[in-house]
Amino acid sequence: MSREAFVNGEYTEYINSKVHIEDRGYQFADGVYEVFAVLDSKIVDYEGHIKRLYRSLKELNIASPIQRKSYKFHIYEIIKRNIIQDGLVYLQVTRGVASRDFKFPKNSKSSIVIIGKNTSSNYYNNNFNKGIKVKTTKDLRWKRVDIKSLNLLPPVLAKQYAADNDCEEAWLLDDDGYITEGSSSNAWIVKNKTVITRPVSSSILNGITRSTLIKSLSKVGYNFIERRFNLNDIKNADEAFITSATQFVMPVIAVNNIKIGNGRVGEFAQIFKEIYFKYISLS
Ligand code: PDD
Repeated sequence: MSREAFVNGEYTEYINSKVHIEDRGYQFADGVYEVFAVLDSKIVDYEGHIKRLYRSLKELNIASPIQRKSYKFHIYEIIKRNIIQDGLVYLQVTRGVASRDFKFPKNSKSSIVIIGKNTSSNYYNNNFNKGIKVKTTKDLRWKRVDIKSLNLLPPVLAKQYAADNDCEEAWLLDDDGYITEGSSSNAWIVKNKTVITRPVSSSILNGITRSTLIKSLSKVGYNFIERRFNLNDIKNADEAFITSATQFVMPVIAVNNIKIGNGRVGEFAQIFKEIYFKYISLS
C-alpha cells in the first residue's frame, strides 16, 4: 500500500503530491499548521488543536479552506488510508496561490495539505528512558510566536545548532536571559516539588500538550506555577522536561552539558508522563 496525502480537496499518492510554485506558503511562509499526535489510530486532544488552528488563521486573516467539521473527517481519512496506529498527522493551510506580491491577494483560495506517518511507540519510550540533552541559544524568532505559523527558519537554525552540539533540543533565550521555550516544544523545570513553566504570551506557543499537562497536574494536586526561568534556575533545578505533540512529556537530563539533578531521568518526569497519558482525550 502506498502512502496518501490530502492536497486541496483530493487524495493523492504521497510521492506524486504537488503544490503550486506560487503558493504563498512556499514564497512567504504565509500560512499556519498543526501537528496532531495519533495513538491507537485516534487523534490526541483534537479540540485543542483545531481551536488553535482557527485562532492562528484568524490572527493572519486566512480563510479556512474547508468547513470546521470537515477537518476531523479528512484527518481520519489520512489515518485510515495510511494505516496509522501510532504516529502523527501534519496539517498545513496557506493563503493560497497568487502572483508574487507582498499584499494579501484579493481572490486567492486557501491551500490545504494533510499528511500522516507512523512512528513506532518504542521510539518514544526509548527516548524517554534515555532523556534528551538541550543546548541554549538566542531566540531570534518574530514577536508573534503564539501564532503557529510556517515562519520556521529561526527554530530550524536553533534545532540544527542543538544537533551540531550533540543535543536533541534547543531552548531559546530572550533578551533578559530567560528561556522562552524549546525550538519545537514548551520548556519546564521542577524545583522543590513545584513545576515551573513560562506563562502564555505572544513570546511562546500555547502548547496543547502543555495545557493538558497543566490540567492533569491540578487534578492530581501537584504544585504548579507559571513564571519565567533562566540558566541559574536551570542549574539549580531538580528536573527538567519538554512537552509537545511529538515528544509528549520528555525528560531533559542536561542543559549546555550541565547535568540536571543527578543527570538521569527523574521521578517527576515519570509521574508526569503517566498523568499526561491518563488525561489526554482521544477521539
Ligand atoms: N511543535 N512551542 C513550539 C515553538 C512548538 O513548535 C511546539 C510544537 C510546541 C508544543 O505545542 P504542542 O504541545 O501543541 O505540540 C511549543 C510541533 C510539534 C512541530 O512543529 O512539529
